[in-house]
Amino acid sequence: MTNPIIRLENVNKEYGSGKNTVAALKDVDLEIQAGDFVAVVGVSGCGKSTLLHVMAGLEQPTSGRILLDGVDVTLISERDLPKVRAQKIGFVFQSFLLIEDLTSYENVEAVLWPIEELSKQKQESMTLKVLREVDMLERRDHRPLQLSGGEQQRVAIARALVNSPPILFCDEPTGNLDSKTGENIMKIIARLNKEKGMTVVLVTHDESLTKFAKKTLRMKDGVIRQG
Ligand SMILES: Nc1ncnc2c1ncn2[C@@H]1O[C@H](COP(=O)(O)OP(=O)(O)OP(=O)(O)O)[C@@H](O)[C@H]1O
Ligand SMILES: [Mg+2]
Repeated sequence: MTNPIIRLENVNKEYGSGKNTVAALKDVDLEIQAGDFVAVVGVSGCGKSTLLHVMAGLEQPTSGRILLDGVDVTLISERDLPKVRAQKIGFVFQSFLLIEDLTSYENVEAVLWPIEELSKQKQESMTLKVLREVDMLERRDHRPLQLSGGEQQRVAIARALVNSPPILFCDEPTGNLDSKTGENIMKIIARLNKEKGMTVVLVTHDESLTKFAKKTLRMKDGVIRQG
């Protein structure tokens, strides 16, 4: 086997304390190879978002190690994390997390700001290209609150893809889209996986999305199992 691009070793995540403790991830061991497309399916509350957040270094696990490309994300300093994320990771949040004061265009382009090597011109062409791909070019100057839920989701997807990340994390990426738009977005993601070798980890409660993945894992009460 080659070196996995993502590796979780005995990862636990607990929220709260005392009798209010919730074990959201329980002894999770997981290896994902570069170029794979993995869907993790499970019901609401089983720990899907938590899994993606710890994988992306957005939340610290209570215990365990998380290696992205061999680097332990839990050990990267706060100062270095934005640049590491900008170069390695795309993330589609379940709740979008668009910045209200920025336009669609600015929300997407902001991902590229930490990469000093990119000229302003290059940042602009990359941003416009990805906005076109999700069919949001016409709404480029709108702010998130002036957009529908599905439009916000498409901007969030453009933001996740603009840096052509080697790794894409998607949390319910089609949750607010009609079935046709959702299908189109999934096809874009599947094409990037196939043509560019982008590694994709998608979490969802929606069984129908598993047809786009190469591998499906099941999650229940913070535990992941194969098949
Ligand atoms: N910040 C938090 N504080 C306390 N408990 C939390 C927090 N975030 C998540 N949890 C709990 O951890 C468990 C897993 O939550 P998580 O958001 O990962 O589930 P999910 O599978 O993504 O659910 P959904 O499909 O509804 O998005 C749930 O029981 C949830 O209540
Ligand atoms: Mg969730």
